[in-house]
Amino acid sequence: MKTVIEQISEKLEAAFAACGYDQKYAKVSVSNRPDLCEFQCNGAMAAAKEYHKAPFMIADEVVAQLKQDEDFASIESVKPGFINIIVSGAYLADYVNTMARTEKFGFETGDAPKNVVVDYGGANAAKPLHVGHLRSAVIGESIKRIERYAGNTVTGDVHLGDWGLQMGQIIEELRDRKPELPYFDENFKGEYPTEAPFTIAELEEIYPAASAKCKTDDAFLARAHAATLKLQSGDPACTAIWKHIMNVSKADLKKNYDNLNVTFDLWKGESDAQPYIPDMVQSFVDQGIAYESQGALVVDIQEDTDTKELPPCIVRKSDGAALYATSDLATMVEREKLLHPDTYIYLADKRQELHFTQVFRVAKKAGIVKPETQMTFLGFGTMNGKDGKPFKTRSGGVMRLEHLIADINDAVYKKITENRTMDEEEAKKTAKIVGLAALKYGDLSNQASKDYVFDIERFASFEGNTGPYILYTIVRIKSILNKYIENGGDLKELRVNSEQSASEKSLELALVKFAEVIRAAYKDNAPHRICQYIYEISNAFNGFYHDTKILAESDASKQKGYIALISITKAILEQCIELLAIECPERM
Ligand code: ARG
Repeated sequence: MKTVIEQISEKLEAAFAACGYDQKYAKVSVSNRPDLCEFQCNGAMAAAKEYHKAPFMIADEVVAQLKQDEDFASIESVKPGFINIIVSGAYLADYVNTMARTEKFGFETGDAPKNVVVDYGGANAAKPLHVGHLRSAVIGESIKRIERYAGNTVTGDVHLGDWGLQMGQIIEELRDRKPELPYFDENFKGEYPTEAPFTIAELEEIYPAASAKCKTDDAFLARAHAATLKLQSGDPACTAIWKHIMNVSKADLKKNYDNLNVTFDLWKGESDAQPYIPDMVQSFVDQGIAYESQGALVVDIQEDTDTKELPPCIVRKSDGAALYATSDLATMVEREKLLHPDTYIYLADKRQELHFTQVFRVAKKAGIVKPETQMTFLGFGTMNGKDGKPFKTRSGGVMRLEHLIADINDAVYKKITENRTMDEEEAKKTAKIVGLAALKYGDLSNQASKDYVFDIERFASFEGNTGPYILYTIVRIKSILNKYIENGGDLKELRVNSEQSASEKSLELALVKFAEVIRAAYKDNAPHRICQYIYEISNAFNGFYHDTKILAESDASKQKGYIALISITKAILEQCIELLAIECPERM
């Protein structure tokens, strides 16, 4: 289905061509003067240069071609050479009715379906989740859903950090706390216990303690490094402890991600890539792209077109250890073998940009991925507190996701109970859904690469560009539709009115942008575009609602048109929040 802009552009192209002008000048856009018109074409101004004619003469000629077109309520040339367009109510209504009956409201990418891996979440096993991981999960989940909606086959992988120094730190801290465990008995010959020697609560305490110790106690740090290396060389005792850490930590992470309504198709981690490392590194050497530098093995990634110097990618340290980059490269080897992706999308803090530039370039240079494989790094900014510094809890510590969610739920709960009579249980349940929406929308409504300020009061507000405002709009529509049905109405075969009030038409003009908005969100990996769009729709709907007596309308046919319009508004808003992984309650 062509967009409204495309349809109008085609008419203008034909008119420009009929008058002897290049149709490249026929570009149409949404008007930036909505007080004057709905769409505009400024091409006559540019054409004037090529054809040495006054722009308004060109505009006049083009407009004369289209004066009789019934799809336009008005088309005018305005000095110095603008073409101002207002579409007819019948045209717009027809478009909205068709859209309502078209799969995905007419959204299509125009591309062949692709096989896409989205690498997001990126939590580190046994370490607390921090705000960066929250952003990765929230934005990544939306990207994954948009990719899927675009018709692609998508695999979301949490890619846990499960192979780093934290493992050695925990092993050594555990040794100090519970030396009697069989893992620390060198003469132990039996089977190691299947039960973990710690709970998640203990693990949460062990890691920060060990990490703090490493900062002051060099001997402990050396032991942690040694234990990490032992684990990475397959030592059975270290491996047994590692498995316990992973089981306990994964169960907890799953719970956290479930609470966020974020789900992964794969729960792989850096450890899964390790078996591929030796052959991969050897192939770098065999291909002659890796060389020794100060004892380490490195691959150059500098390209002629670079404006600044980029350091080579280290793939093996002088002590033989693999690095973050090595793991990411070996993960690609595995993904190529198991998933054959056309596109890779990675979400991580934007400060990891150099890392991803390095691994993407090495992957292409070494032929791990095909030359045409699309490698995308989506670097996101920092979530700051109101003081403009990276967000901390009230006590100044690292954010715990549960606490953050609890805080925002409280704020929403207060709002709900202030205004409405809802029983305690439903208010709690609703606050949970709306609170999460507040949190996610507060994040997603910003361009991902930008830093943003986490402001509970603002995010939880029922007014303004917030999650609760959008949900409130949907809930309001649901309630009108329910009442309409209670009064004997029926939602089948409805069509919007072909003569609209101003606010009714504004709402339709907002709705018809769906396909181009989703396409832009898809092409640019930009969920914030969807937020902008649903905010515009919500405002347009609330304007319409304010002006219109929907349920009290006595003209049944007109009322049916209203009901058709708010039904499609609801369907579109619901589809959009689904792409943002935001849910809506029944009442608020
Ligand atoms: N675990 C990493 C961190 O906490 C993020 C992982 C991002 N993904 C990747 N494939 N490197 O910073």
